[in-house]
Amino acid sequence: MLITGASGQLGAALTEAFPEARALTRADWDVSETPPPGLGTPALVLHTAAWTDVDGAEDDPQGAAAVNVGGTAHAAALGAPLVAFSTDYVFDGRKREPYVESDAPNPLSAYGRSKLHAEAAAGERAWVVRTSALFGWRSHNFVRTMLRLGAERDEVSVVADQRTSPTFVGHLAAELPQLLELPFGVYHVAADGDCTWAELAVAIFEEAGLSCRVREISSAEWGAPAERPAYSVLRSEKPGTPRLPHWRVGLRACLDRL
Ligand SMILES: NC(=O)c1ccc[n+]([C@@H]2O[C@H](COP(=O)([O-])OP(=O)(O)OC[C@H]3O[C@@H](n4cnc5c(N)ncnc54)[C@H](OP(=O)(O)O)[C@@H]3O)[C@@H](O)[C@H]2O)c1
Repeated sequence: MLITGASGQLGAALTEAFPEARALTRADWDVSETPPPGLGTPALVLHTAAWTDVDGAEDDPQGAAAVNVGGTAHAAALGAPLVAFSTDYVFDGRKREPYVESDAPNPLSAYGRSKLHAEAAAGERAWVVRTSALFGWRSHNFVRTMLRLGAERDEVSVVADQRTSPTFVGHLAAELPQLLELPFGVYHVAADGDCTWAELAVAIFEEAGLSCRVREISSAEWGAPAERPAYSVLRSEKPGTPRLPHWRVGLRACLDRL
């Protein structure tokens, strides 16, 4: 069994959940290149390596595609069943009720487009797991950024017009064995409940005992280069898809590790 992107936040959680797997970092295999010799044909590939810099992809869409689409094609070419992780950013956010697997994707950003093409590149022997707003104890994420800023400042400005389901990587990794019992296909696996980034920031400060205020701003005020969906809550319409705990339970579990 093989894990790509092992030093990322989801890769780190999967490496813990599947200690028998061979965990590869970018130094072991740059997935935009064909696999290095010696990987053989694993029994299963958990492919988490990805270009995750959503704003950076706007400046270099080809670079993002090389990692996300090319990397997924290379992972699929190993010939093993594949778990490919995808994103809520394949949707345009115009719905106001949770997105299910049969909803039509329409990505707003270069990152979202690269991940949608990556889903196709995963091939037919793949579980494509769409998840959202990941956070964990490793790598870059919103929770770790807020803990740092909350300790430095009295107030932070946070976007309040994007609603999603922040998902703890430990909960996602724990439910993966249940997913592997299901047929290949696309699955939505994200935390229960939903919130805006501003609401998440408030919860982080409450749980961490920080007295930092949250000033709610719009995406337009924030002015990020990449457009994000205003609403990207994911739910599964497929029987047997694992259900994850509420995002606030995930937040507490993550804070316990930090
Ligand atoms: N983060 C989110 O909010 C979110 C939401 C939905 C879906 N997802 C998807 O979930 C998966 C895991 O995301 P994550 O949050 O764990 O991301 P992450 O923490 O940014 O980790 C991504 C990992 O991929 C590695 N990587 C980047 N380019 C590579 C390359 N060319 N070759 C090999 N490795 C490379 C990175 O290595 P370095 O450490 O060397 O940079 C990093 O370890 C991705 O498919 C992502 O698209 C993420």
